[in-house]
Amino acid sequence: MDRSDIVDSDVEFADRMLSLGLARVSEAAAIAAYQQIGRGDQKHADQVAVDAMRTQLNMLDIKGVVVIGEGERDEAPMLYIGEEVGTGAGPEVDIALDPLEGTTLTAKGQPNALAVIAMGPRGSMLHAPDVYMDKLAVGPGIPRGALDLDQDPADNVRELAKVKGRKPEEITVCILERPRHEELIEKVRTVGASIMLISDGDVAGVIHCAETDKTGIDLYLGSGGAPEGVLAAAALRSMGGWIQGRLMFRKEEERERARKAGIEDFDRKYEIEDMVRNDVIFAATGVTNGSIVRGAQRVGDRLETETILMRSATGSVRRIHYSRRL
Ligand code: FBP
Repeated sequence: MDRSDIVDSDVEFADRMLSLGLARVSEAAAIAAYQQIGRGDQKHADQVAVDAMRTQLNMLDIKGVVVIGEGERDEAPMLYIGEEVGTGAGPEVDIALDPLEGTTLTAKGQPNALAVIAMGPRGSMLHAPDVYMDKLAVGPGIPRGALDLDQDPADNVRELAKVKGRKPEEITVCILERPRHEELIEKVRTVGASIMLISDGDVAGVIHCAETDKTGIDLYLGSGGAPEGVLAAAALRSMGGWIQGRLMFRKEEERERARKAGIEDFDRKYEIEDMVRNDVIFAATGVTNGSIVRGAQRVGDRLETETILMRSATGSVRRIHYSRRL
């Protein structure tokens, strides 16, 4: 990373001190959501995760502001965009969060639901409005320019295959299964690539690219939530790899939302450094099982969770195994 863009606020950011605290925040949300796995009520699952995350977050010694949260103030009573969080005693930080990324996955007991949070100095993360973002993501070792969001998806697969010294048929692309992606899927199929269709959870989908050996996924393509794009970008800042994204607007109301978030250029293609401009810490705890982290589970009379905790300043990636008496 080019460290010349690091601003003074980093000095006070104290990310080493805050990282364990951040892991406890995502753990708390995952533990709350665990009780709701397979119970068919995604709203309730989300609500308990939000409550737990907010309670833990408010114990941290930070002067935090939610920049990516549960929605705008009038639609989200808690962890809304602009909400001040933390004790107010520590550094000024921005918070991006998704207490339950994969509400339906959780309600249906399906894999890859996560509790996710990222923290950085003020101004470190793009204030992504709640609209769709078209995304392209790859893991470490893929040069910029070989692939591009504006390039035909079939060409992107071909280029990636070339870089990896494989045939296009040996590339696996992760795509959200949605009617809006029919054309994209067709284009990727023309080069014979394998497609892993996921029903939800594109933060996990993108992160999967960073650990191809474990997940088998080489490339992420398609549109999903813009807030999820920024969260995934925060993770890739530590894990390696890169993401490009472009906001997508279906109606004027969505453009208005973007304007409110300070966005002026609606066609802009965001590089990873535009989405996450500065050092951040990122924590994700598994709610249901996934290839990156295990889901929360009961083991005897204990409850166990796994959290991936990362710092972009050093590229450190830790896995924290937590166990407590039920
Ligand atoms: P929820 O956690 O709100 O259920 O969102 C899950 C998710 O699949 C995200 O991972 C993704 O970015 C978005 O929904 C896609 O939105 P849509 O379901 O409208 O295609």
